[in-house]
Amino acid sequence: MAPSPSPTAPSIPSGLLERLRADAGPRGFLPFDRVVDRALYDPETGYYESAEPPLGPHGDFYTAAHASPLFGGAVAARAFEEFERLGRPARFRIVELGPGDGTLARDLLAALVPRMPPTTTVDYVLVERSRRLARASAEALLGVADPGRVAIRRADALSTDGPFSGFVIANELLDAVPFRRLVARDGAWRELGLRVGPAAVEWAEGPLGALPPPALPAPPRDGIVLEVAPAAEAILREVADHLVAGAAVFVDYGLEEPELLLGHPEGTFAAVRAHRPVDDPLAELGRADLSAFVNFTRLRDAARRAGLTERAYVGQAEALVRWGLPALLEERARASVSSEAEVRVRLAAKNLLFGFGTFRVLDLAPPGSAVATPDATPSPAAP
Ligand SMILES: C[S@@+](CC[C@H](N)C(=O)[O-])C[C@H]1O[C@@H](n2cnc3c(N)ncnc32)[C@H](O)[C@@H]1O
Repeated sequence: MAPSPSPTAPSIPSGLLERLRADAGPRGFLPFDRVVDRALYDPETGYYESAEPPLGPHGDFYTAAHASPLFGGAVAARAFEEFERLGRPARFRIVELGPGDGTLARDLLAALVPRMPPTTTVDYVLVERSRRLARASAEALLGVADPGRVAIRRADALSTDGPFSGFVIANELLDAVPFRRLVARDGAWRELGLRVGPAAVEWAEGPLGALPPPALPAPPRDGIVLEVAPAAEAILREVADHLVAGAAVFVDYGLEEPELLLGHPEGTFAAVRAHRPVDDPLAELGRADLSAFVNFTRLRDAARRAGLTERAYVGQAEALVRWGLPALLEERARASVSSEAEVRVRLAAKNLLFGFGTFRVLDLAPPGSAVATPDATPSPAAP
């Protein structure tokens, strides 16, 4: 159900509160995507710009990339398939969207480069919205990749250099882009957001702003909340407009819209700090990670309308197995220096396969690609 509109007395940083107040203007109301945008990405007060590292075991949350280098190894295998499909070009471009602290980039390159012909250069482009993490991801790669084999650079957007062929990868990007929250009231959808007062914010409802198609479903029970992320759909349109040949692979947690409406009537918005959901997300704005499940129905529809074709839409476990995780695991287990290290490798692989239950992989081909029958529905990961 929708959060009760009772006031909270948050201790959110004053700079952030000021910005939210300015954004809200005289109406005093902000749709929630505007709040997420400021709280996560404001260059001065955004969570992703803070001095504390948000990602990894010492941060607030970890992703599959931090769970094991096997994740990067498996993604490298998928990237290599595209390298072959493109006819083994002398320069192979990989664009990573939202590389965070650079963990995936480091592991992917470590696994990929030894497989490439010595005459091939990998152009690795880091597209990271947070200035702090853009620096961190570039620094994580310093001295890691042989400059004769890999050219690493940062870009403001996937579209910066115009159309290209190659491999686009984004892990847990789409759950972190600003999302809107809609609430069902008296048979209609309303916008859920914040009323920003002089010293505090509180949940509030306003008229529904413009939404791109597809149309919203008839609102079910009163109070049900649905999150949608037009900004995530825009990222897919940008891919469709610039990726000429190759593939774009998005890994993220999420569900189809009917599953969200039935299984998560309160919505899926979560604020996480130190690996735990926080009790009062509004009190932690600017200091906690904010995310929502990806609405795969809307995302896939946006992809189709933009001309992208699904090569696969499967659960993370199934994708990793297809990309050769079992063989990579055995290789790494054999190379372990002790039995304890081997057990750790195997446990990390188990976590990748069974600990990311709602994670799905959307593997897209650019407009005009000839694609064999795509997969239909992701199989849930076994417990
Ligand atoms: C949840 S983190 C995931 C980081 C990394 N991919 C991983 O798997 O560890 C989301 C990342 O996406 C970045 N991000 C969000 N929106 C973005 C955008 N529009 N373009 C590029 N990066 C973005 C964030 O700054 C953050 O680094």
